[in-house]
Amino acid sequence: MSKAIIVGASSGIGLEVARLFIQRGWTVGVAARRLDLLQTIGAADVEQIDVTSADAPDKLMQLVERLGGMDLFFYASGIGKQNRELTPDIELATVETNGLGFTRMIGCAYRYFAQQGRGHIAAITSIAGTKGLGPAPAYSATKAMQNVYLQALEQQANARKLDIRFTDIRPGFVDTALLSGTFHYPMMLKPQAVAREIVSAIEHHKHIRVIDWKYRILTAVWRRIPRCIWRRIKL
Ligand SMILES: NC(=O)c1ccc[n+]([C@@H]2O[C@H](COP(=O)([O-])OP(=O)(O)OC[C@H]3O[C@@H](n4cnc5c(N)ncnc54)[C@H](OP(=O)(O)O)[C@@H]3O)[C@@H](O)[C@H]2O)c1
Repeated sequence: MSKAIIVGASSGIGLEVARLFIQRGWTVGVAARRLDLLQTIGAADVEQIDVTSADAPDKLMQLVERLGGMDLFFYASGIGKQNRELTPDIELATVETNGLGFTRMIGCAYRYFAQQGRGHIAAITSIAGTKGLGPAPAYSATKAMQNVYLQALEQQANARKLDIRFTDIRPGFVDTALLSGTFHYPMMLKPQAVAREIVSAIEHHKHIRVIDWKYRILTAVWRRIPRCIWRRIKL
């Protein structure tokens, strides 16, 4: 492993993961929409990519070509907002970025690795995908879609005898711009600590990693809550 591309590296968790891989001596290419931020990271190469745009896969492949290949594709792009009023713009933008954008970019990396015969796809999904969360319906649903999509691709890759590894990273609340605002979130994690767990999960070829241990307990418990009770819980 030596060449990584990180999409969604301009801030938050993706930025911290990019920094760690650069420190470890990897050749790293970074992408997101905010080019000015990407240029300060010290990556080997940068590309301005909007994952909601149809030309995003072409731009990703141009970055791969300039980098001289790709061993790891790390996907950190995403948006998320609470939407208790179900404002359509928020719901639809979330589906566009976390649903369509995710499918577009993960698919591009998968096809590249299928042709290459090997590779590693890691993506930040969320614990929000493990249960339907009332305060953020589109966010929760798109994260569930991401969880299932990675699971499906992993099965498909095995059936096709492709040596492609997958790591589905599911953090709890992390102190990044995504959660900025007035609402107070409990059990907040630091992005630097989350990034360290992510790199470790990738290096150890974990299939799924819930971050951190507190959220591993929480999700284990709430998975067991039956639907008839879950629908009455006020979050
Ligand atoms: N913070 C949390 O509590 C938490 C918990 C679980 C999972 N996550 C997930 O972790 C991932 C990273 O989020 P974060 O917390 O680190 O928040 P963040 O600081 O807001 O980072 C989001 C990243 O996604 C990129 N992005 C957003 N829309 C994009 C687009 N259309 N095209 C390309 N890149 C785009 C942003 O870059 P540009 O704006 O420059 O394009 C930025 O680099 C997300 O998938 C999020 O759902 C976060």
